[in-house]
Amino acid sequence: MRHIVLRAALACAAWWGLAGCGRTVPADGELAVIPQPASVGLAEGSFLLSARSPIVVGMEGAEPVARALDEVGEALFGRPLRRADSPAAGAVVLRRDTALAGEAYALTVSPEGIDIAAGSPAGAFYAVQTLRQLLPPEAFGAGDVRRAEIPCLTIVDEPCMRYRGVMLDAARHFFTVDEVKRLLDILALHKINTFHWHLTDDQGWRIEIRKYPRLTEFGSVRTRTLIGRDPGGEYDETCRFDETPYGGFYTQQEIRDVVAYAAERFITVIPEIEFPGHAVSALASYPWLGCTGEQYEVRQTWDIDDRVYCPGKETTFEFIENVLAEVAELFPGPYVHIGGDECPMTYWKGCPHCRARMRSEGLTHWRQLQNYSTARLERFLNARGKQLIGWDEILEGEVTPTATIMSWRGTEGGIRAARQGNYAIMSPGTYCYFDHAQAVGEGEPLSWGGYLPVDKVYAFDPCAGLTPGERRFILGVQANLWTEYIADFDHLQYMLLPRLSALVETAWSLDRKDWDDYRRRVDRLRRLYDACGYNYARHLWAE
Ligand code: ACM
Ligand code: ZN
Repeated sequence: MRHIVLRAALACAAWWGLAGCGRTVPADGELAVIPQPASVGLAEGSFLLSARSPIVVGMEGAEPVARALDEVGEALFGRPLRRADSPAAGAVVLRRDTALAGEAYALTVSPEGIDIAAGSPAGAFYAVQTLRQLLPPEAFGAGDVRRAEIPCLTIVDEPCMRYRGVMLDAARHFFTVDEVKRLLDILALHKINTFHWHLTDDQGWRIEIRKYPRLTEFGSVRTRTLIGRDPGGEYDETCRFDETPYGGFYTQQEIRDVVAYAAERFITVIPEIEFPGHAVSALASYPWLGCTGEQYEVRQTWDIDDRVYCPGKETTFEFIENVLAEVAELFPGPYVHIGGDECPMTYWKGCPHCRARMRSEGLTHWRQLQNYSTARLERFLNARGKQLIGWDEILEGEVTPTATIMSWRGTEGGIRAARQGNYAIMSPGTYCYFDHAQAVGEGEPLSWGGYLPVDKVYAFDPCAGLTPGERRFILGVQANLWTEYIADFDHLQYMLLPRLSALVETAWSLDRKDWDDYRRRVDRLRRLYDACGYNYARHLWAE
């Protein structure tokens, strides 16, 4: 019996030309990495990565990078790679090179092994993301590959922009912790380093705040949801609603879990707590936060709402500062986003508390009441070691020199910020709003507002109109996924991919963008999307 098993194994080894069963997946000969690396030098020959290839972690803090390599091992070979203490034939070596900048890396594949030198573990992580795209896409997820071929080459690479972000609106529709983690996996593949998490809005409060339990007990649930196009205020019998109560929130433990998962992927999480507008879920939970004290329902429709926080009352600041204190503890990153967009002043104008605040602070325009609030929150955050980000409305009136501006109503806000010495992130609706349709025609899902095809995303120049001196205030770019009409994770991926691959070329490869070459490369990337099971706008490649 033993004899027969041995003979069968030998026959199998002879068939594959290997010392055991399994298949060798050949490199497909096409070099196609997104975002486009700074330099690529192809060499003769190839390296065969196998489950027996050891990882040598010769760099402090690079354990998450080794775990990312383990995930590659799991996807290809069905098990993680093993660790070794010193470089040996066939090893994947991670090492620091102090000549390289923080997010830079040099990846060398030779017949003897893989060398990853990086300025920091983040750079090494990006080298692993590049490596994933050098492997045969079909091998991913197979779990039964014996060896995967990688062409010999040297890639030296670093990003053009230091901020590469994606925002998820978890308020209009809720995404589970597991879905958020799957999103973070997608972001990691695209070398995104910032996840902006929009956690509060009129239609739902999604983060547990221990001091104010009603925010999640009450403010996280709306009784129904508008499912057709929003008529902009005229809600009559022609509007269609899903009458199912809709809710969800993240406990503080879950928030910590997501933050840790992101950190493993060198992604910083920025929480957004909207103030003073987009506040109905908070006001519905604690009516004393509004100017009138009326009891509201959590909002069931979209667009801008007049019901905002009352900045006239001290109790409002006590509330928001207590909220931000808990938020600052939960998120170790440098930034807290306080929203600041689309805040009507209708209620303020009729409010005795707001009028009194205007007088006592010597304010002459109503928008200055928002400036006053923003500056006050910034002082509070700075005292806790955090920097404030706000949407570009916080520039109206005046803004402190230290606030960072997220430019969404075009790039004008970012340009103005840069000219006056404020840092800015470019996220204009015209190029970065992935809730807009990416195609037209039958079968396209209902989407918000505009039309944003992938070639337009690719064409974005975030530094247009700025001098070199002003450009250094542009930290980077961000895609925004507002979710009024994105109710599930499949749809979310569809809106994100492949547009994210186009935007990240602006963030990472701004000085070397080439649409035709991107088109060639994205065709290979989508095979990796297929292997990873991602949902994306497939039909855009049908022609
Ligand atoms: C926004 O889209 N209201 C920032
Ligand atoms: Zn008021």
